[in-house]
Amino acid sequence: MAQRETWTSRIGFIFAAVGSAVGLGNIWSFPFQTAANGGAAFLVVYLLAVFLIGFPTMMVEFVIGRRGEQNPIASFGKIGYGNWSFTGGLGLFSSLITLSFYSVVGGWVLSYILGSATGAYFGDAGAYFGSVASGPTAIGGHLVFMVLTIGIVASGVTDGIERATKVMIPGVLLLLVALAGWATTLDGAAEGYSYYLSPDFGVIASNFGSIVPPAMGQAFFTLSLGFSVMIAYSSYLGRDDSLPADGGAIVVVNTLIALLAGFVVFPILFATGGAEGAGGGAGTAFVALAGAFGSLPAGGIIGFFFFAVLLFAALSSSISLLEVPVSYVSENYGYKRSTTAVAMGGLIAVIGVPATFGTSWLGFYNDLVFKLLLPISVLLLAVFVGWVADREAVDELGRGSSVGESFTSAWLWWVRLVVPVAVIVTLYLGVEALYTGLASGAYF
Ligand code: PFF
Repeated sequence: MAQRETWTSRIGFIFAAVGSAVGLGNIWSFPFQTAANGGAAFLVVYLLAVFLIGFPTMMVEFVIGRRGEQNPIASFGKIGYGNWSFTGGLGLFSSLITLSFYSVVGGWVLSYILGSATGAYFGDAGAYFGSVASGPTAIGGHLVFMVLTIGIVASGVTDGIERATKVMIPGVLLLLVALAGWATTLDGAAEGYSYYLSPDFGVIASNFGSIVPPAMGQAFFTLSLGFSVMIAYSSYLGRDDSLPADGGAIVVVNTLIALLAGFVVFPILFATGGAEGAGGGAGTAFVALAGAFGSLPAGGIIGFFFFAVLLFAALSSSISLLEVPVSYVSENYGYKRSTTAVAMGGLIAVIGVPATFGTSWLGFYNDLVFKLLLPISVLLLAVFVGWVADREAVDELGRGSSVGESFTSAWLWWVRLVVPVAVIVTLYLGVEALYTGLASGAYF
């Protein structure tokens, strides 16, 4: 059997994992979910969810991946619990579905890069969205985005994924810092910052049920948890890397990039009318931002860079989603990585086609993942590491790191008790919302 690839360095792994984490979720959904859910009140709950639930869950995936050193399905067997491999399979399934619609949005981003260059959305931002978000343009964008993703994954873990993310992530960071600097000069900046950063705890208390599920879903999604991605990426990791230190770095950088995106988006929104128009579904973010770029001085150039950031971020995430099925199929059936990448990518492209028909399908795929698949996956992972796996597997957390036995034990109890309870509450509220949506015909 061919030698399995590993990251060339610890930094290579961190870049790739940050690349997976930083994506449309940070720059597109995070600011707009924050805007739609009460601003700073949402931000507080989201940050708690990221650090208290997301970080420990990331350690769960890392432990399984590095201990297993296989694709996310085989890793369970390698640790000695082959009958739990369905958990990795569920993550793989979620990766397929997610990439299928993620790529459609990636295609929109391509259209908006073009639109910034040509000025096509300057006149009527709503009409432009309508023309690119469904129909032939949407299918075309989706296919181009998938081809880019396939190209990188086909080139391999080090030559493709590691090399691409080492360029894209610094690019994202630099451009966002520049855009946030520019945003300070806008007229509505102060108002935007205040909506974004001054929490009203009354709002949290009175909207708990409606804030928690999106905040938790967003925390898992942004950290790429529950999709088997972090299992796959950590399986290429050396024995002497510190899982808590690497995971901590990934979570912090990912959070900083999301926060930075808020520093770009909120001033723009408040310079051109406030946060009210920003809620309500996938497209509003594009319409609101493009409308703003169309009316601000040098908006086309700013828009071009903004959407370029979004494209880099989206690609460095989409490759991680494709890596999961590709690593499984190529390792399990012995096919060549490049052939597998083309075949799996093609399949995913087809699954995504309904999401190009209109935003209701896309919204359905999105909610299915956020509200159902993702929390179930995380729950299974936590139960597996917390209650099923033996202590030797659990101790993988401390290998190669300076954290002591007591850190591992505290984490284990947290994963046994706190994470499942938080996820069950989220799952309950999410399923209820999904059911109500389906029953009321909100999707179809
Ligand atoms: N974390 C990415 C984002 O925030 O856009 C999306 C994502 C990538 C989710 C990979 C899940 C995943 F496995």
